Amino acid sequence: KPVNVAIVGATGAVGETMLKILAERQFPIGRLHLLASERSAGEKIEFGARKIVVEDLATFDPAGIDIALFSAGGSVSKEYAPKFAAAGAVVIDNSSVFRQDDDVPLVVAEVNPDAARNRPRGIIANPNCSTMQLLVALAPIHNAAKIERINIATYQSVSGTGKRALEELGRQTAGLLSFQQAQPEVYPVQIAFNVIPHGGDFCDNGYTTEEMKLVWETRKILGDDSIAVNATVARVPVFYGHSEAVHVETRDKLSAADARKLLEGAPGIEVVDERVGGGYPTAVTHASGNDPVYVGRIREDISHPRGLSLWVVADNIRKGAALNAVQLAELVVAERDAVASV
Ligand code: A2P
Repeated sequence: KPVNVAIVGATGAVGETMLKILAERQFPIGRLHLLASERSAGEKIEFGARKIVVEDLATFDPAGIDIALFSAGGSVSKEYAPKFAAAGAVVIDNSSVFRQDDDVPLVVAEVNPDAARNRPRGIIANPNCSTMQLLVALAPIHNAAKIERINIATYQSVSGTGKRALEELGRQTAGLLSFQQAQPEVYPVQIAFNVIPHGGDFCDNGYTTEEMKLVWETRKILGDDSIAVNATVARVPVFYGHSEAVHVETRDKLSAADARKLLEGAPGIEVVDERVGGGYPTAVTHASGNDPVYVGRIREDISHPRGLSLWVVADNIRKGAALNAVQLAELVVAERDAVASV
């Protein structure tokens, strides 16, 4: 049976990619509604041979929607996700507003898919993009040797901040190359040719919210509150693809060779790890526009007896957001079809 789908935030960086991925994966779409703010209502977006008119979320009636994919920011999710759920839709929400709630599952499709079944509020939360790729890569290691501590530094692309940030990086780069001043608008300081150690807002403990998401989302998804996580998030002048330098300490010793074998056999991962120039994944050469989480630079940590170091790269808009949301929608559909065939 075809599925009636609504994309909330359809004109945004993630929303557009959700639409593309639904088409690529031949999701069984019935009715399709593309929703955004009043500002872009009336615009037309191509979907295969069709042109679909963007509708205003504020006046949209969610009755009959089976699955709603939300990516229009926290305040929109807070207000409208419960309304869509009350009307009978399963909401898959890309914002952070429900992620910490005990009665909302937080799911990476390859890591804890069963958690998606238990959704008393009709809402499934999609994890933060950095956590997403981190856990696709670390779940096989955790399952084999139990991770006790994670030390991570991220190198996050501007697309994670949204379309205005993509434009800001382009504008500043072009401007600086023709000797104009960079005008920071989206980011607090110049992003072109720079690295900014700041994602989200500052917390009392000196970490930023983007860093703290890596801490507690990891614990919730892996179901283990004892995992210690220390994160530094940096924004880099890259358009698409987040990179992460990941250092883990495991309870049981895992050799680099064994880790590599585990990762090669794990879902959603592609190992790119030759010890030569270019024998590692990067945002531009591998991740951008592609689905897998790429892992390279797998080695034993010379500073710790049970430590491993990895380099993890993925397209933050695809696996980090839109792809995982569509994978969760596929899980919901598979569940519904299984019930229907009983
Ligand atoms: P719009 O194009 O009408 O502003 P991004 O993260 O790339 O900036 O995209 C944000 C998405 O969320 C866009 O599709 C944007 O639509 C949508 N959005 C933002 N605010 C609202 C709102 N108040 N109601 C509905 N959609 C919104």
